[in-house]
Amino acid sequence: MEGQAMWLTFFALPLIGQAAAAAGWCYTSQSASCGPEFWKTFSHNCGGENQSPVNIDRAKISKDKSLGDIVFGGYDQAPPGKWRIMNDGHTVLVSLDGDNTPAPIDISGAGLPNVYRALQFHFHWGSLKQDGSEHYIDGKQYPMELHIVHLSAKYKSIADAKADPNGLAVLGLLFRVTPTDNANYNTIVDAMKNVTLEGESVDLASTFRLDSLLPSADKLSRYYRYQGSLTTPDCAEAVIWTVFEEPVNISRSQLNVFVDSVHFTATGEERKKMTNNFRPPQPLRNRKISASRDATANRGTMRGTSLPALLLTFLIGQHMVHAHRLS
Ligand SMILES: *[C@@H]1O[C@H](CO)[C@@H](O)[C@H](O)[C@H]1NC(C)=O
Ligand SMILES: *[C@@H]1O[C@H](CO)[C@@H](O)[C@H](O)[C@H]1NC(C)=O
Ligand SMILES: [Zn+2]
Repeated sequence: MEGQAMWLTFFALPLIGQAAAAAGWCYTSQSASCGPEFWKTFSHNCGGENQSPVNIDRAKISKDKSLGDIVFGGYDQAPPGKWRIMNDGHTVLVSLDGDNTPAPIDISGAGLPNVYRALQFHFHWGSLKQDGSEHYIDGKQYPMELHIVHLSAKYKSIADAKADPNGLAVLGLLFRVTPTDNANYNTIVDAMKNVTLEGESVDLASTFRLDSLLPSADKLSRYYRYQGSLTTPDCAEAVIWTVFEEPVNISRSQLNVFVDSVHFTATGEERKKMTNNFRPPQPLRNRKISASRDATANRGTMRGTSLPALLLTFLIGQHMVHAHRLS
């Protein structure tokens, strides 16, 4: 009996671990057997209490007056040199760190406990038929989401930062489809056509101001803040999330380059389109989401209000109709 138990410990468990690691995690659109519901078998963190993304229910959150303007450093300059875009088999990402970005690009202020340096940005999207953001607002999913990943100045690498709940700061930007192209995304959209297979990478034709990927400057003080995790394994609970209320505009044809031209698979493998590379919302559990000073919060005052309050709203409405007729 004891011998059997030893055998299990020393042989069976490491083998199971290896098999899982070799197969790797995926999204359900790639394979039914390694999608988000299985991630906790790859990494224990993915079953944790503080996971991302989440649904931001604006009827349930309140404002934190201390969440003011984000201080963007270097976001308004196109650095010299090159930025590389690559297909890593799960997303398309652009690396910002290293020798090619000599002047720091960083964020601070806005309740962040430190300065956070930009490392990379990447996207999560749906398909021709389905939206694909990770965060939801009021139960609504958006067509796509951009993540700009920043590392606390305390640390040298993401690996170092993972044990610290404040180790990383990620900006989450939702998209809305508009009739006209967003020309600020042309450099990325053009390069997507050169990274359609896993492992492919190419230098972007030019660098650009990172703030050109964001909504207009006057909307950047409207955001939601909570404590969460990376949204891919190992799902480390090391992220201060900032999700902007104002979406970024993009045209349908630009969005379709994301959802309809990139593949999960490498050259030589059976091609599988990279679609629906998002993790669904995770339980909020004991966490609180805060709205910045300027963001919309406690919307939906109609929802969950008492009958007398609804009657009062109705009566005021009637009164205003009358008042309007009289004037
Ligand atoms: C992508 O590849 C085409 C040729 O297929 C090339 O003309 C173009 O410059 C490339 N784009 C980038 C961003 O490297
Ligand atoms: C984005 O589109 C919305 C809705 O069409 C529009 O109101 C807004 O001004 C646009 N924003 C920018 C920065 O063009
Ligand atoms: Zn992401």
